[in-house]
Amino acid sequence: MSKRIAFWIFLIGTLSSSALFLFLTFDTQRQVEALSHADRIDDRVIAGKRAFQKYNCNDCHTILGFGGYYAPDLTRVIRRVGAEGVRYRVTDPGKAFANGWRKMPNQHLAAAEIDDLAAFFTWVDGIENGDWPPQDSRKRLSRAGERLVASAAASPGAAVFQTRGCMSCHTLHGAGGTFGPVLDTIGARLSAGQIERYVQDPKAVNPKANMPAQTGLTDREREEVARFLSSLK
Ligand code: HEC
Ligand code: HEC
Repeated sequence: MSKRIAFWIFLIGTLSSSALFLFLTFDTQRQVEALSHADRIDDRVIAGKRAFQKYNCNDCHTILGFGGYYAPDLTRVIRRVGAEGVRYRVTDPGKAFANGWRKMPNQHLAAAEIDDLAAFFTWVDGIENGDWPPQDSRKRLSRAGERLVASAAASPGAAVFQTRGCMSCHTLHGAGGTFGPVLDTIGARLSAGQIERYVQDPKAVNPKANMPAQTGLTDREREEVARFLSSLK
């Protein structure tokens, strides 16, 4: 290749990739309002964003990829645990993450601030961002996992499963933790009564059990979660 040809390849290559880059940047800017659903930003969402900054949640968490790498990315947290799940975790992290090795501090937020945060996360969850950044791999989403969050409104037992910490150890339909077994078809093996007994006191059923007794549940919640799990066959 002569010097002259190399020069033209360099020039045309640089100019065309710069033009493409500028066009894509412009095109993204043009779509920001539509992709982020800016019309859904109301006072609650703004108050939630302020609370997120006030309590420095970003020190540990990323959101849309920005922030600290210590704790899970919160872009899709609503899809993962639902608004009720966010409330439970932020209100009492000591209890919600009692068995985790990473710790989240209790910053004693007011109930209204937690509601605002849930509104903010709900708005962020709706942003069409090409599913970037990838979510915490242990808690990877599946369509069935999303259905589970949706079903929580209809089934009190599914809501208990999501909000009372079961998912930090158990995976259901691809979403959740990996310390405990997958429970997708647990109803084929155990009845509601057996599940209830296990959840209340695993060691009474199996002296070698690693699952801690779930003392945070009311009798009613235990019954509901057992009925829900026993329906999964
Ligand atoms: C000092 C670090 C730290 C700060 C500050 C912090 N978190 Fe966390 N957070 C964590 C850790 C660590 C976890 C994961 C715990 C686990 O899975 O055992 C977590 C988990 C969560 C979860 C559950 C995520 C999921 O995918 O299950 C939510 C929701 C959450 N935090 C919200 C918040 C909010 C809102 C704030 C600010 C008010 C905040 N966090 C501040 C460390 C922190
Ligand atoms: C700290 C982690 C952890 C938490 C939190 C947890 N589990 Fe478990 N779970 C386990 C482990 C580990 C097992 C496997 C058996 C054992 O070692 O106890 C298990 C077993 C089970 C079983 C029996 C499965 C079988 O195949 O026999 C059921 C049912 C169950 N868990 C339901 C729940 C429910 C419902 C919740 C929430 C209220 C929950 N678990 C919370 C860790 C946990």
